[in-house]
Amino acid sequence: MRSIIIAGNWKMNKTIGESISMVKELKTLVRDIGDRAILVCPPATALSSVGAELKGSNISLGAQNMHFEENGAFTGEISAGMLKEIGVEYVILGHSERRHVFEEDDSLINKKVKTAISSGLKPILCVGETLEERENGRMEDVVSTQLSDGLGGIEDIKNLVIAYEPVWAIGTGKTATPSQAEEVHVLIRKVLGAIFDDEISEGISILYGGSVKPGNIKELISQDNIDGVLVGGASLDAKSFSEIVKC
Ligand code: 13P
Repeated sequence: MRSIIIAGNWKMNKTIGESISMVKELKTLVRDIGDRAILVCPPATALSSVGAELKGSNISLGAQNMHFEENGAFTGEISAGMLKEIGVEYVILGHSERRHVFEEDDSLINKKVKTAISSGLKPILCVGETLEERENGRMEDVVSTQLSDGLGGIEDIKNLVIAYEPVWAIGTGKTATPSQAEEVHVLIRKVLGAIFDDEISEGISILYGGSVKPGNIKELISQDNIDGVLVGGASLDAKSFSEIVKC
């Protein structure tokens, strides 16, 4: 049985005050949900306060990024240990905005995934093709490479989560159809089977991300290989995120 994970990636949105009032409302709205992991990923400045507000609730805390080194001269960066100290459980790594806006490549992302796992954080490794790559018939190749390079040299995958986020569906309102998403999730599971083995692959939760909303969640989550979602825009509002959580 794979865990169902409903995660909200707030990106660079919300002050501490806004974050606290959002999670206060969310806690009440989802307090009876016990069969899935619920996760919010606020900006770094709000992590600590949101973590304190979430104590004792059924909502977990995630970060949006981290550095792979333990400490040192890395101005502006945050380490896994610093995240653990404030109660962070998950960390999003290799998000398409990190890859495309901040030029993170698979080898850097691989180091981050290794550090996250060895530090006891649960990495959510994001993969996904651009529209141009899809239209040029390169989707399979791009996603497979992001997985094999991003996961190179990793043996302990106990806490690993994968998110498929087609770049053309992020923030565009254009969701992959459930069958388009399922097709790539099946491919991802096949690649994970080749990297590790089929039994391990069957146990890894694969989330879908890209314009997920209360109106399209049911169809997406009903697919065999979609084990949850990573939500951007619709996770900023407690009501709409709670509707997705309750799907
Ligand atoms: P949207 O849900 O806003 O398309 O963002 C998806 C995403 O990037 C989540 O990580």
